[in-house]
Amino acid sequence: MEQMDIKQLSADITRLKKERNAVILAHLYQRPEVQEVADFVGDSLELSRQAASTDADVIVFCGVHFMAETAYILSPDKIVLLPDEQAGCPMANMITAEQLKTRKSQLPDAVVVAYVNTSAEVKAESDICCTSANAVKVVQSVPADKPILFVPDKNLGAYIIQQTGRPMELWQGWCNTHEWVTADNVAAAKAEHPAALVLAHPECQPEVVALADFVSGTSRLIQYAKESQDRQFIIVTEAGILHQLNKHCPEKEFYLATGKLVCPNMKLTTLPKVKQALETLQPRITVPEPVRAKALGCLERMLAIR
Ligand code: 13P
Ligand code: SF4
Repeated sequence: MEQMDIKQLSADITRLKKERNAVILAHLYQRPEVQEVADFVGDSLELSRQAASTDADVIVFCGVHFMAETAYILSPDKIVLLPDEQAGCPMANMITAEQLKTRKSQLPDAVVVAYVNTSAEVKAESDICCTSANAVKVVQSVPADKPILFVPDKNLGAYIIQQTGRPMELWQGWCNTHEWVTADNVAAAKAEHPAALVLAHPECQPEVVALADFVSGTSRLIQYAKESQDRQFIIVTEAGILHQLNKHCPEKEFYLATGKLVCPNMKLTTLPKVKQALETLQPRITVPEPVRAKALGCLERMLAIR
């Protein structure tokens, strides 16, 4: 998009935002120009907290469907807009509430820990939610004598098992963006930039995680890069994060481990769609009340953990 268009659209969005008393929340994987127009940019945990505490009338969620749904579950009195309704998360679609109910009937004592990357219906069938930022703490909060069923990300699940030593039953889901990064991709990046530290998201496969110097959700990866004495980093998570990394650490160098690290769903949100959403107050994301009420318990138990 031309710089001129970005400038004009951003000005229009800022004006509409005021008129609508709207807040724009953007995930760290969003396009740079979308991040720039947002009131708050963060990881999925921070964005949930923002959605729960905002006094705006309208939340424009620049992210994917489960994130907007989470915002509505936490703030049902607000209008929650997802600028492109097609922006889903393939991992969240790898488990349905019906499938989860069947698995639960086979593991009747299990506590179900659901990654926030799930539908509202799946959250409603789960005991406690987590994000990549608090997953270890959430699992540690489950009484030691209770078996755990972790859904849907097998890679985040494997990482938690490794960190906590806690056995868990893992649903066999994955993220289409992180799963296809190979250990060879990281080794090749390392050969090209031997002085660089490897920073990886736990949605990567265990053999990729094993090559990382630091593993965490998106926000803490940025914090780590900011505070580190090192100057070069290989980034093994979605490309959108480079915008904030370069902004916060202009003197450091960041190399994406592979060009495969793009989430097409996160890129569906564009400035013209954000503007249109503010003009029309559509597309709105809602959740039927009985499902919302049950899913809220799952999210609130997570948010209570600090
Ligand atoms: P974070 O929780 O780290 O923001 O990640 C969300 C996500 O969708 C990762 O692919
Ligand atoms: Fe879903 Fe992966 Fe995209 Fe995150 S990066 S929204 S987990 S597909």
